[in-house]
Amino acid sequence: MAKFIKHNCYVGIVGAGSIGVAWAVVFATRGYPVRLYEVATDRILHAKDEFLSKISELKKFGLIENDIDAIAPLLSIDTDLESITDKAIHIQECIPEIKEDKKKLFALLSELTPPDVPIASSTSFLPASTFASDVSHRERCLVIHPGNPPYLLRIAEIVPAPFTSMSVVEKSKQLMIDVQMHPIVLSHETTGFVFNRLQGALLNEAYSLVDDGIVSIEDIDLIVRDALGLRWSVLGPFETVDLNTRGGIKQHAARMGPTYEKIGAERGTNTSWGVELVDKVAAARRAKLPLEKWEERVSWRDRAMMTLIIARRKFLGQD
Ligand SMILES: NC(=O)c1ccc[n+]([C@@H]2O[C@H](COP(=O)([O-])OP(=O)(O)OC[C@H]3O[C@@H](n4cnc5c(N)ncnc54)[C@H](O)[C@@H]3O)[C@@H](O)[C@H]2O)c1
Repeated sequence: MAKFIKHNCYVGIVGAGSIGVAWAVVFATRGYPVRLYEVATDRILHAKDEFLSKISELKKFGLIENDIDAIAPLLSIDTDLESITDKAIHIQECIPEIKEDKKKLFALLSELTPPDVPIASSTSFLPASTFASDVSHRERCLVIHPGNPPYLLRIAEIVPAPFTSMSVVEKSKQLMIDVQMHPIVLSHETTGFVFNRLQGALLNEAYSLVDDGIVSIEDIDLIVRDALGLRWSVLGPFETVDLNTRGGIKQHAARMGPTYEKIGAERGTNTSWGVELVDKVAAARRAKLPLEKWEERVSWRDRAMMTLIIARRKFLGQD
């Protein structure tokens, strides 16, 4: 059973759009009171209903343990920034991806929040050093980037700026674990972090293939949805190719690496799968899956995909 916090503290969220409401679901369903600050009248009016509808759906699917009646009162919508900051244990900023707006907001939040409170941005692309370098308590500022929606994609990229204190990173990591998000702590800042750099690589190629007139937009979606994505929902890209080639990922790199380099060069990128890099990845894979167990894992992959295909058919009314 998730713990329910009784004392007088809360998570403060700024911005009640898609991500702000979704974070509210993540925190409240784990028992954290949430105060959600918003400036737009329309969002002030609708955010609570959206929250209630999301928690009801999650409950219907059996994805949350606590009762709706216990979760619903944990969210309040606020129109005063101070009332969401004075007793906050964590701040999650969710305003639009506009650097100057985040800069202004972080300056305010840094002044208004109690000492030791992490101030995290949900930004998709902007490293914290681009908007929080000059604030008074920059050691408390960092990025915690979710996937959309975070109540279903249970990962959170934690991206410290060079000035973020390690205790704030650790505190943020523990909070993410407590709300059942898998924290992924990046060693240093990079535009788009990991999630969007991976997504971007695929999108860049998808746009280029459409631009080249090679394939339709619908067929790109179909290939990802019914083929690449089906496998990726149970395996990552490294494990996928590890299982695609007898002999594992090292064999895959030897056979396919030069062609992937050529494809990259056609798009003007010069990524190279060097020997040392491939050895490093292969060693990590072999530590996870010795080659003697390769066949067994391939069968597991097939069973996992069969289960997904059946669930999907059922959901889509195709059974
Ligand atoms: N939508 C996604 O798929 C996604 C995924 C991960 C991260 N993000 C990031 O999360 C952030 C929010 O994205 P979103 O999709 O929820 O945007 P959104 O436009 O749906 O919501 C932003 C909300 O912030 C409000 N707002 C603007 N300025 C404000 C202020 N100063 N104080 C309080 N509220 C303010 C707006 O009125 C709006 O309701 C962005 O940085 C975005 O890049 C988005």
